[in-house]
Amino acid sequence: MIDFVALASVGIRGLRAYDPGHDLVALRRMAPPGGLVELGSNESPYGASPKAKQAIAAVLDGIHIYPDPLGGDLKRALAQQHGVHTAQILLGNGSHELLMQFAQVFAGAGDEVVASQYGFAVYALAAQAAGATLRLAPALPKDHAMPRGHDLDALLAAITPHTKLLYLANPNNPTGTWYGREAFAAFLAQVPSHVLVVVDEAYAEFVDAPDYASALGLLSQYPNLIVTHTFSKAYALAGLRVGYAIAHAECIAVMERVRESFNVNALGLAAAEAALGDTAYLAQTVAANAVQRQVLASALRARGLTVSPSQTNFLLVEFGARTAAIEAALVARGVILRPMGGYGLGECLRITVGTETENTRLLAALDEILEKGRA
Ligand SMILES: Cc1ncc(COP(=O)(O)O)c(C=O)c1O
Repeated sequence: MIDFVALASVGIRGLRAYDPGHDLVALRRMAPPGGLVELGSNESPYGASPKAKQAIAAVLDGIHIYPDPLGGDLKRALAQQHGVHTAQILLGNGSHELLMQFAQVFAGAGDEVVASQYGFAVYALAAQAAGATLRLAPALPKDHAMPRGHDLDALLAAITPHTKLLYLANPNNPTGTWYGREAFAAFLAQVPSHVLVVVDEAYAEFVDAPDYASALGLLSQYPNLIVTHTFSKAYALAGLRVGYAIAHAECIAVMERVRESFNVNALGLAAAEAALGDTAYLAQTVAANAVQRQVLASALRARGLTVSPSQTNFLLVEFGARTAAIEAALVARGVILRPMGGYGLGECLRITVGTETENTRLLAALDEILEKGRA
Protein backbone atom coordinates (compact mmCIF):
# COMPACT_ATOMS: atom_id res chain seq x y z
CA MET A 1 0.00 0.00 0.00
CA ILE A 2 1.33 3.45 -0.86
CA ASP A 3 1.20 6.06 1.89
CA PHE A 4 -0.02 8.95 -0.25
CA VAL A 5 -0.12 11.35 2.68
CA ALA A 6 3.60 10.74 3.28
CA LEU A 7 4.25 11.33 -0.41
CA ALA A 8 2.47 14.70 -0.35
CA SER A 9 4.46 17.88 0.20
CA VAL A 10 4.89 18.95 3.83
CA GLY A 11 2.18 21.61 3.74
CA ILE A 12 -0.42 19.30 2.23
CA ARG A 13 0.14 16.50 4.78
CA GLY A 14 -1.59 18.29 7.63
CA LEU A 15 -4.44 19.71 5.53
CA ARG A 16 -8.10 18.89 5.51
CA ALA A 17 -10.02 19.53 2.29
CA TYR A 18 -12.30 22.60 2.14
CA ASP A 19 -15.69 21.72 3.62
CA PRO A 20 -18.41 22.89 1.21
CA GLY A 21 -21.22 22.08 3.67
CA HIS A 22 -24.06 19.71 2.83
CA ASP A 23 -24.17 17.44 -0.23
CA LEU A 24 -26.81 19.53 -1.93
CA VAL A 25 -27.23 17.29 -4.93
CA ALA A 26 -28.15 14.37 -2.68
CA LEU A 27 -30.44 16.57 -0.58
CA ARG A 28 -32.19 17.91 -3.70
CA ARG A 29 -32.97 14.34 -4.74
CA MET A 30 -34.62 13.65 -1.42
CA ALA A 31 -36.26 17.07 -1.17
CA PRO A 32 -39.80 17.44 0.16
CA PRO A 33 -42.50 18.72 -2.21
CA GLY A 34 -41.81 22.35 -3.08
CA GLY A 35 -38.08 21.75 -3.02
CA LEU A 36 -35.32 22.88 -0.75
CA VAL A 37 -34.78 26.32 0.67
CA GLU A 38 -31.06 26.63 -0.02
CA LEU A 39 -29.60 29.24 2.28
CA GLY A 40 -26.20 27.69 2.94
CA SER A 41 -23.80 29.01 0.32
CA ASN A 42 -24.38 32.76 0.01
CA GLU A 43 -25.54 32.53 -3.58
CA SER A 44 -27.87 35.14 -5.02
CA PRO A 45 -31.49 33.97 -4.95
CA TYR A 46 -32.35 36.46 -7.69
CA GLY A 47 -30.36 34.69 -10.40
CA ALA A 48 -28.03 36.19 -12.98
CA SER A 49 -28.72 39.20 -15.18
CA PRO A 50 -30.76 38.29 -18.28
CA LYS A 51 -27.99 40.01 -20.26
CA ALA A 52 -25.45 37.54 -18.86
CA LYS A 53 -27.67 34.66 -19.92
CA GLN A 54 -27.98 36.13 -23.43
CA ALA A 55 -24.21 36.51 -23.58
CA ILE A 56 -23.79 32.83 -22.70
CA ALA A 57 -26.25 31.80 -25.42
CA ALA A 58 -24.27 33.86 -27.92
CA VAL A 59 -21.03 31.97 -27.27
CA LEU A 60 -22.49 28.46 -27.27
CA ASP A 61 -21.71 27.92 -30.94
CA GLY A 62 -18.07 28.67 -30.23
CA ILE A 63 -17.38 26.36 -27.30
CA HIS A 64 -15.25 24.03 -29.42
CA ILE A 65 -12.55 26.70 -29.47
CA TYR A 66 -10.45 27.80 -26.50
CA PRO A 67 -11.46 30.93 -24.64
CA ASP A 68 -9.40 34.11 -24.89
CA PRO A 69 -6.37 33.23 -22.73
CA LEU A 70 -5.94 36.90 -21.87
CA GLY A 71 -9.59 37.55 -21.03
CA GLY A 72 -9.04 40.87 -22.81
CA ASP A 73 -12.64 42.07 -23.13
CA LEU A 74 -13.48 41.33 -19.52
CA LYS A 75 -10.26 42.94 -18.30
CA ARG A 76 -10.94 46.10 -20.31
CA ALA A 77 -14.45 46.30 -18.86
CA LEU A 78 -13.09 45.80 -15.33
CA ALA A 79 -10.30 48.30 -15.88
CA GLN A 80 -12.83 50.91 -16.92
CA GLN A 81 -15.15 50.12 -14.02
CA HIS A 82 -12.40 50.37 -11.39
CA GLY A 83 -10.23 53.05 -12.99
CA VAL A 84 -7.13 50.83 -13.23
CA HIS A 85 -4.92 49.54 -16.04
CA THR A 86 -5.66 46.10 -17.55
CA ALA A 87 -2.14 45.04 -16.52
CA GLN A 88 -3.27 45.38 -12.91
CA ILE A 89 -5.97 42.74 -13.30
CA LEU A 90 -5.68 38.98 -12.85
CA LEU A 91 -8.65 36.78 -13.74
CA GLY A 92 -9.35 33.62 -11.78
CA ASN A 93 -11.53 30.55 -11.92
CA GLY A 94 -13.39 32.06 -9.01
CA SER A 95 -11.52 34.20 -6.51
CA HIS A 96 -10.84 31.04 -4.48
CA GLU A 97 -8.26 30.03 -7.09
CA LEU A 98 -6.48 33.36 -6.78
CA LEU A 99 -6.53 33.35 -2.98
CA MET A 100 -4.77 29.97 -3.09
CA GLN A 101 -2.26 31.11 -5.70
CA PHE A 102 -1.16 34.21 -3.80
CA ALA A 103 0.20 31.92 -1.10
CA GLN A 104 1.65 29.50 -3.64
CA VAL A 105 3.54 32.34 -5.30
CA PHE A 106 4.56 34.51 -2.37
CA ALA A 107 4.86 32.21 0.66
CA GLY A 108 6.60 28.93 1.38
CA ALA A 109 8.46 26.96 4.02
CA GLY A 110 9.87 29.30 6.68
CA ASP A 111 7.47 32.11 5.77
CA GLU A 112 4.50 33.24 7.79
CA VAL A 113 1.00 34.09 6.63
CA VAL A 114 -1.27 36.13 8.88
CA ALA A 115 -5.06 35.89 8.95
CA SER A 116 -7.79 36.48 11.49
CA GLN A 117 -9.59 34.00 13.68
CA TYR A 118 -13.02 33.55 12.00
CA GLY A 119 -11.56 34.76 8.71
CA PHE A 120 -12.65 32.97 5.51
CA ALA A 121 -11.45 29.33 5.66
CA VAL A 122 -9.55 29.47 2.38
CA TYR A 123 -6.82 31.74 3.81
CA ALA A 124 -5.66 29.04 6.23
CA LEU A 125 -5.84 26.41 3.50
CA ALA A 126 -3.80 28.59 1.15
CA ALA A 127 -1.09 29.22 3.73
CA GLN A 128 -0.78 25.61 4.77
CA ALA A 129 -0.87 24.23 1.22
CA ALA A 130 2.03 26.53 0.38
CA GLY A 131 3.99 25.07 3.30
CA ALA A 132 3.99 28.40 5.14
CA THR A 133 3.21 28.87 8.81
CA LEU A 134 -0.20 30.31 9.57
CA ARG A 135 -0.44 32.91 12.33
CA LEU A 136 -4.01 33.55 13.37
CA ALA A 137 -4.72 36.88 15.06
CA PRO A 138 -7.50 36.78 17.66
CA ALA A 139 -10.79 38.25 16.46
CA LEU A 140 -12.73 41.01 18.19
CA PRO A 141 -14.72 39.70 21.18
CA LYS A 142 -18.25 38.37 20.92
CA ASP A 143 -19.71 41.40 22.70
CA HIS A 144 -17.98 43.96 20.45
CA ALA A 145 -20.03 46.13 18.06
CA MET A 146 -18.49 43.94 15.33
CA PRO A 147 -18.76 40.56 17.05
CA ARG A 148 -15.90 38.23 16.09
CA GLY A 149 -14.84 40.69 13.37
CA HIS A 150 -11.28 41.42 12.31
CA ASP A 151 -9.18 43.09 15.00
CA LEU A 152 -6.85 45.21 12.88
CA ASP A 153 -4.52 45.89 15.83
CA ALA A 154 -4.24 42.17 16.55
CA LEU A 155 -3.48 41.53 12.88
CA LEU A 156 -0.71 44.13 13.00
CA ALA A 157 0.69 42.57 16.16
CA ALA A 158 0.82 39.15 14.45
CA ILE A 159 3.18 40.44 11.74
CA THR A 160 6.83 39.42 12.16
CA PRO A 161 9.90 39.81 9.94
CA HIS A 162 8.94 36.39 8.48
CA THR A 163 5.46 37.48 7.39
CA LYS A 164 4.97 37.43 3.64
CA LEU A 165 1.21 37.65 3.25
CA LEU A 166 -1.75 38.87 5.25
CA TYR A 167 -5.33 37.97 4.31
CA LEU A 168 -8.39 39.84 5.47
CA ALA A 169 -11.93 40.14 4.18
CA ASN A 170 -14.14 43.21 4.12
CA PRO A 171 -16.89 42.42 4.81
CA ASN A 172 -15.89 39.08 6.30
CA ASN A 173 -17.35 35.64 5.78
CA PRO A 174 -18.64 34.01 8.01
CA THR A 175 -19.13 36.88 10.47
CA GLY A 176 -20.69 39.42 8.06
CA THR A 177 -18.79 42.15 9.91
CA TRP A 178 -16.79 44.95 8.34
CA TYR A 179 -14.24 47.63 9.21
CA GLY A 180 -14.34 51.26 8.15
CA ARG A 181 -12.26 53.21 5.69
CA GLU A 182 -10.29 55.20 8.25
CA ALA A 183 -9.41 52.20 10.38
CA PHE A 184 -8.13 50.36 7.33
CA ALA A 185 -6.09 53.30 6.05
CA ALA A 186 -4.45 53.62 9.48
CA PHE A 187 -3.81 49.86 9.54
CA LEU A 188 -2.27 49.75 6.08
CA ALA A 189 0.03 52.65 6.87
CA GLN A 190 1.56 50.51 9.64
CA VAL A 191 1.97 47.28 7.67
CA PRO A 192 5.62 46.85 6.64
CA SER A 193 6.05 47.05 2.87
CA HIS A 194 7.47 43.50 2.69
CA VAL A 195 4.04 42.13 3.65
CA LEU A 196 1.52 41.68 0.84
CA VAL A 197 -1.97 42.53 2.08
CA VAL A 198 -4.76 40.63 0.33
CA VAL A 199 -8.14 42.26 0.89
CA ASP A 200 -10.95 39.91 -0.11
CA GLU A 201 -13.99 41.97 -1.13
CA ALA A 202 -16.23 39.12 -2.29
CA TYR A 203 -19.29 40.80 -0.75
CA ALA A 204 -18.40 44.45 -1.41
CA GLU A 205 -21.31 45.12 -3.77
CA PHE A 206 -23.78 44.43 -0.95
CA VAL A 207 -22.38 47.05 1.41
CA ASP A 208 -24.32 50.20 2.23
CA ALA A 209 -22.60 51.23 5.49
CA PRO A 210 -21.44 54.84 5.12
CA ASP A 211 -18.11 54.19 6.89
CA TYR A 212 -17.12 51.47 4.39
CA ALA A 213 -14.78 51.93 1.45
CA SER A 214 -13.23 49.44 -0.92
CA ALA A 215 -9.49 49.08 -0.49
CA LEU A 216 -9.16 49.80 -4.22
CA GLY A 217 -8.91 53.50 -3.44
CA LEU A 218 -5.57 52.90 -1.71
CA LEU A 219 -3.97 50.86 -4.50
CA SER A 220 -1.97 53.67 -6.03
CA GLN A 221 -0.46 54.48 -2.62
CA TYR A 222 0.41 50.91 -1.58
CA PRO A 223 2.15 48.58 -4.04
CA ASN A 224 1.85 45.78 -1.45
CA LEU A 225 -1.97 45.88 -1.60
CA ILE A 226 -3.99 43.24 -3.49
CA VAL A 227 -7.79 43.33 -3.74
CA THR A 228 -9.93 40.38 -4.83
CA HIS A 229 -13.51 40.43 -6.10
CA THR A 230 -15.86 37.78 -7.42
CA PHE A 231 -18.78 37.39 -9.81
CA SER A 232 -20.18 34.60 -7.59
CA LYS A 233 -22.15 36.70 -5.13
CA ALA A 234 -23.98 39.91 -6.13
CA TYR A 235 -23.50 39.14 -9.84
CA ALA A 236 -25.00 35.69 -9.27
CA LEU A 237 -22.58 33.76 -11.48
CA ALA A 238 -21.31 31.27 -8.88
CA GLY A 239 -21.80 28.34 -11.26
CA LEU A 240 -19.46 29.84 -13.84
CA ARG A 241 -16.49 30.50 -11.54
CA VAL A 242 -15.13 33.96 -12.32
CA GLY A 243 -13.18 36.12 -9.92
CA TYR A 244 -10.41 38.68 -10.22
CA ALA A 245 -7.63 40.42 -8.37
CA ILE A 246 -6.43 43.97 -8.78
CA ALA A 247 -2.92 44.90 -7.67
CA HIS A 248 0.31 46.51 -8.79
CA ALA A 249 1.07 45.51 -12.41
CA GLU A 250 4.35 43.86 -11.40
CA CYS A 251 2.62 41.76 -8.75
CA ILE A 252 0.08 40.63 -11.36
CA ALA A 253 2.88 39.83 -13.82
CA VAL A 254 4.46 37.45 -11.29
CA MET A 255 1.10 35.83 -10.59
CA GLU A 256 0.59 35.33 -14.33
CA ARG A 257 3.52 32.89 -14.25
CA VAL A 258 1.42 30.26 -12.48
CA ARG A 259 -1.97 31.05 -13.99
CA GLU A 260 -3.31 28.20 -16.11
CA SER A 261 -3.54 29.53 -19.63
CA PHE A 262 -7.31 29.10 -20.05
CA ASN A 263 -8.38 29.29 -16.42
CA VAL A 264 -11.55 31.25 -17.12
CA ASN A 265 -13.85 29.58 -19.62
CA ALA A 266 -15.61 31.24 -22.55
CA LEU A 267 -19.05 31.23 -20.93
CA GLY A 268 -17.66 32.77 -17.77
CA LEU A 269 -15.80 35.51 -19.64
CA ALA A 270 -18.85 36.48 -21.69
CA ALA A 271 -21.32 36.30 -18.82
CA ALA A 272 -19.13 38.28 -16.42
CA GLU A 273 -18.62 41.07 -18.94
CA ALA A 274 -22.35 41.28 -19.62
CA ALA A 275 -23.22 41.14 -15.91
CA LEU A 276 -20.75 43.92 -15.18
CA GLY A 277 -22.44 46.07 -17.80
CA ASP A 278 -25.92 45.47 -16.41
CA THR A 279 -25.67 47.96 -13.58
CA ALA A 280 -29.46 48.25 -13.25
CA TYR A 281 -29.81 44.53 -12.56
CA LEU A 282 -26.99 44.61 -10.01
CA ALA A 283 -28.63 47.56 -8.26
CA GLN A 284 -31.93 45.66 -8.14
CA THR A 285 -30.26 42.59 -6.58
CA VAL A 286 -28.38 44.68 -4.03
CA ALA A 287 -31.49 46.66 -3.08
CA ALA A 288 -33.60 43.52 -2.68
CA ASN A 289 -30.87 41.96 -0.53
CA ALA A 290 -30.64 45.05 1.68
CA VAL A 291 -34.39 44.97 2.33
CA GLN A 292 -34.52 41.23 3.04
CA ARG A 293 -31.36 41.36 5.18
CA GLN A 294 -33.04 43.89 7.42
CA VAL A 295 -36.37 42.04 7.52
CA LEU A 296 -34.77 38.66 8.24
CA ALA A 297 -32.41 40.02 10.91
CA SER A 298 -35.33 41.72 12.67
CA ALA A 299 -37.47 38.58 12.48
CA LEU A 300 -34.68 36.46 13.96
CA ARG A 301 -33.99 39.00 16.71
CA ALA A 302 -37.71 39.09 17.51
CA ARG A 303 -37.38 35.36 18.22
CA GLY A 304 -34.73 36.08 20.82
CA LEU A 305 -31.78 35.09 18.65
CA THR A 306 -28.51 37.04 18.51
CA VAL A 307 -27.74 38.17 14.96
CA SER A 308 -24.39 39.73 14.07
CA PRO A 309 -24.49 42.97 12.12
CA SER A 310 -23.98 42.18 8.44
CA GLN A 311 -23.11 44.09 5.28
CA THR A 312 -23.29 40.95 3.15
CA ASN A 313 -25.99 38.62 1.81
CA PHE A 314 -25.87 36.40 4.90
CA LEU A 315 -26.33 36.55 8.66
CA LEU A 316 -24.36 34.83 11.41
CA VAL A 317 -26.88 33.78 14.05
CA GLU A 318 -26.35 32.31 17.51
CA PHE A 319 -28.61 29.38 18.34
CA GLY A 320 -26.81 28.27 21.50
CA ALA A 321 -26.46 24.75 22.87
CA ARG A 322 -29.21 23.32 20.62
CA THR A 323 -27.64 24.52 17.35
CA ALA A 324 -26.85 21.08 15.92
CA ALA A 325 -30.32 19.72 16.71
CA ILE A 326 -32.00 22.81 15.25
CA GLU A 327 -29.91 22.60 12.12
CA ALA A 328 -30.74 18.91 11.65
CA ALA A 329 -34.44 19.62 12.16
CA LEU A 330 -34.26 22.38 9.53
CA VAL A 331 -32.61 20.00 7.06
CA ALA A 332 -35.40 17.50 7.71
CA ARG A 333 -37.83 20.29 6.72
CA GLY A 334 -35.88 21.07 3.56
CA VAL A 335 -34.16 24.21 4.84
CA ILE A 336 -30.41 24.20 4.33
CA LEU A 337 -28.19 26.54 6.34
CA ARG A 338 -24.42 26.41 6.91
CA PRO A 339 -23.20 24.83 10.14
CA MET A 340 -20.22 26.69 11.57
CA GLY A 341 -18.42 23.96 13.55
CA GLY A 342 -15.48 24.12 11.13
CA TYR A 343 -14.93 27.74 12.20
CA GLY A 344 -15.08 26.88 15.89
CA LEU A 345 -18.55 28.44 15.99
CA GLY A 346 -20.61 25.35 16.74
CA GLU A 347 -23.23 27.48 18.49
CA CYS A 348 -23.91 29.51 15.33
CA LEU A 349 -25.46 28.96 11.92
CA ARG A 350 -24.83 31.10 8.85
CA ILE A 351 -27.96 31.98 6.94
CA THR A 352 -27.92 33.32 3.40
CA VAL A 353 -30.50 36.07 2.98
CA GLY A 354 -33.07 34.58 0.61
CA THR A 355 -36.06 35.99 -1.20
CA GLU A 356 -39.07 36.99 0.87
CA THR A 357 -40.65 33.59 0.15
CA GLU A 358 -37.53 31.67 1.15
CA ASN A 359 -37.07 33.65 4.34
CA THR A 360 -40.71 33.11 5.26
CA ARG A 361 -40.28 29.35 4.78
CA LEU A 362 -37.14 29.39 6.92
CA LEU A 363 -38.89 31.31 9.70
CA ALA A 364 -41.93 29.03 9.61
CA ALA A 365 -39.74 25.94 9.91
CA LEU A 366 -37.74 27.57 12.68
CA ASP A 367 -40.89 28.50 14.60
CA GLU A 368 -42.09 24.92 14.40
CA ILE A 369 -38.77 23.64 15.74
CA LEU A 370 -38.38 26.25 18.48
CA GLU A 371 -42.02 25.69 19.52
CA LYS A 372 -41.43 21.94 19.78
CA GLY A 373 -38.28 22.56 21.82
CA ARG A 374 -40.31 24.59 24.30
CA ALA A 375 -43.13 22.04 24.60
C1 LIG B 1 -15.03 35.85 1.61
C2 LIG B 1 -15.03 34.98 0.40
N1 LIG B 1 -14.01 35.08 -0.46
C3 LIG B 1 -13.94 34.33 -1.56
C4 LIG B 1 -14.92 33.42 -1.86
C5 LIG B 1 -14.74 32.55 -3.06
O1 LIG B 1 -15.62 32.87 -4.04
P1 LIG B 1 -15.41 32.42 -5.54
O2 LIG B 1 -14.30 31.43 -5.60
O3 LIG B 1 -16.73 31.85 -5.93
O4 LIG B 1 -15.07 33.68 -6.29
C6 LIG B 1 -16.01 33.27 -1.02
C7 LIG B 1 -17.05 32.28 -1.30
O5 LIG B 1 -17.93 31.99 -0.55
C8 LIG B 1 -16.07 34.08 0.15
O6 LIG B 1 -17.08 33.97 1.02
